[in-house]
Amino acid sequence: MASFTDEILFIETPIDVMFFMHKAFMSHAKKAETMSGLLKTSDDIERLKPVIDHWLRHITYHVDTEDMFLTGPLQELELHDGRLVVRDNVIEHDEIRSGKIALEEFLSNGPTAGLTSLLESLVFAAEEEQHQELVQNVENLKLVIADALGEEKTSNRTIRHLHQSILALRVVEWDHFENEEAFVLPLVREQMTHNEQLKCASKLLFDSSSENPRWIIDDIYDGLSEEEIGEVEKLEREIQNCGLLDL
Ligand SMILES: [Fe+2]
Ligand SMILES: [Fe+2]
Repeated sequence: MASFTDEILFIETPIDVMFFMHKAFMSHAKKAETMSGLLKTSDDIERLKPVIDHWLRHITYHVDTEDMFLTGPLQELELHDGRLVVRDNVIEHDEIRSGKIALEEFLSNGPTAGLTSLLESLVFAAEEEQHQELVQNVENLKLVIADALGEEKTSNRTIRHLHQSILALRVVEWDHFENEEAFVLPLVREQMTHNEQLKCASKLLFDSSSENPRWIIDDIYDGLSEEEIGEVEKLEREIQNCGLLDL
């Protein structure tokens, strides 16, 4: 069985382009993780932000489009252990969205972002009356703690927590891609015709709502070997020839 972790991938049926997309998206995640492992200063965090934005933009478009055009039309299948293939895929998409929101919130909190979990435990430990007061003064409290710990400690904490959030999302994404390839793609091949798969692939590769509808496919070409590029180009020509692109 093919996987996005394979060295060279081939397209036998249009939905196999999913392996190429998953491979490219995991390379974004890997780049963000590697950079976050080397963070030392807030300037490094600023340099990391566009890499994270790029990664999150791709994965968000991917899961939103799949909910509509991939799992949306599929009939449910219950596995022998009781798992439901379509439902579980949608749940995993929601987990990716939650990881993305957590990462974005973390980045928007600035240099004291790493204090959030410390703050949450302090708020939790406080008596009920103090609790109310603390919740109302979250931002003030962050500054007070940042001051007490010193700038270096808070930024080190932020860096550690940022790395942890990136790693957590990457693991969720990796597991999801493996599950989707193992359980959802066989259902797609069974239930969708060649042309239906082609339409789904075109929605996943081209963003008709964007000024640059090719932003996904061009990025995927960037992350593939020459043989793999040839495979996706063949599929792109078929999509064009079938008149599926209304860009
Ligand atoms: Fe996918
Ligand atoms: Fe997915």
